[in-house]
Amino acid sequence: MKPTVIVTRKLLTPEPIERLAERASVRLWEEDRKIDRDALLDWIADADGVLSMLTDSIDTAVLDAGASLKVVSNMAVGVDNIDLVTCADRGVKVGHTPDVLTDTTADTAWMLLMAASRRMLEGIDTVREGRWGPWDPTELLAHDVSGTTLGVVGLGRIGLAIAKRSAGFGMDVRYTARSARPDAEAAGFRHVPLHELLSESDHVVVAVDLNDQTRGLIGAAEFAAMKPTANLVNVARGPVVDTDALVEALATGSIRCAGLDVTDPEPLPADHPLASLPNCLIIPHMGSSTWRTRTAMANIAVDNLIAGITDKPLPHQITVP
Ligand code: DGY
Repeated sequence: MKPTVIVTRKLLTPEPIERLAERASVRLWEEDRKIDRDALLDWIADADGVLSMLTDSIDTAVLDAGASLKVVSNMAVGVDNIDLVTCADRGVKVGHTPDVLTDTTADTAWMLLMAASRRMLEGIDTVREGRWGPWDPTELLAHDVSGTTLGVVGLGRIGLAIAKRSAGFGMDVRYTARSARPDAEAAGFRHVPLHELLSESDHVVVAVDLNDQTRGLIGAAEFAAMKPTANLVNVARGPVVDTDALVEALATGSIRCAGLDVTDPEPLPADHPLASLPNCLIIPHMGSSTWRTRTAMANIAVDNLIAGITDKPLPHQITVP
C-alpha cells in the first residue's frame, strides 16, 4: 500500500503533485485558502507525511493527532510554524526550501528599501489622487540610498545576498550574526553588536529567523537607538519587530520610514494603525513570490516529502538547534 500524504494547499503547477502521486496517496486541500484546522487534524490521523505552508501551525496538537507521521515538509525556508522540538522528540523529520528563494527575497528587500526610502507610496498616491501639480523643488523630498550605511540584522543566506546587492550603491555595510563571517568580512562588511548597527545605519534590514531569541528583537529601545532618518525594512517574520513600538516610532518620527514584507499580525487588517501611516510601505508577504522561485520551492518540498516517506535523509532537512 502507498503511504498517505497531505498537501495543505494547491501548488502552482500540477507536476509536483503528479510526481508525488506516483509514490503516495495524496490528499490535497483544493480550496483557495489555508486548510481548515479541523480538516488538518482529521486528515493527519493516518498520514505519513504533510506538505505544509508557513500559515499552517504544526504544533503539538497536530503532531499528537498524526501518530504515524514521518515527515513535515514546509514549502518555505522559515519553519517557525512548526514545533521543531516535538518533531525531534518523536522522530518526525522536518524539511524546508532554502537557497532557491535567496535572490528573490533579497530583491524584495531592496525593492522595499528603495521604495520606502524614496517615498514611493506617497508619490504614487499623489498621482492617483490627482494631487500632482507643477514640478516643485521641495515636493516629496527624501533621503539617499547611495553612499549611505546599510545594516543587515542576521547575515544568513538572505542577509548576505542583501548585503552584496549594496555594491552598486557605494554603501558601508554593518551586520549582526552569531559570529563574524570570513566571506562577509572579506567583502568589507563589518560584524558589529546590534545596538552599534542600529545607531550607525541609515537603512536597517531585518533578515533573521524567527525563534525564541529573535521574537521582539526590534522594540522600543532599538527604535530609540536608531537615527531619526532611519529606514527599517523587514523581510523576515513580523514578530521579530514589536508592532506597537514600530507604529509609535513611525508616528512620532523616531525613525523616518519602513518597508515591510511581513507584519504581526499577518494578514494585517486594513484598519490597523500601521496600514494608514504614509511613511510605512507594506506588501503582503510576497518576498519569494515569483514563478521561478515558487516552482522551485514546490519541487523541493515534494522532494523532501518523498524522501521522508521513504525513510531517506531529506535533501533539505532542519536539525533542531
Ligand atoms: C519563507 O520561505 O520562509 C518565506 O517567508 C516565504 O517564501
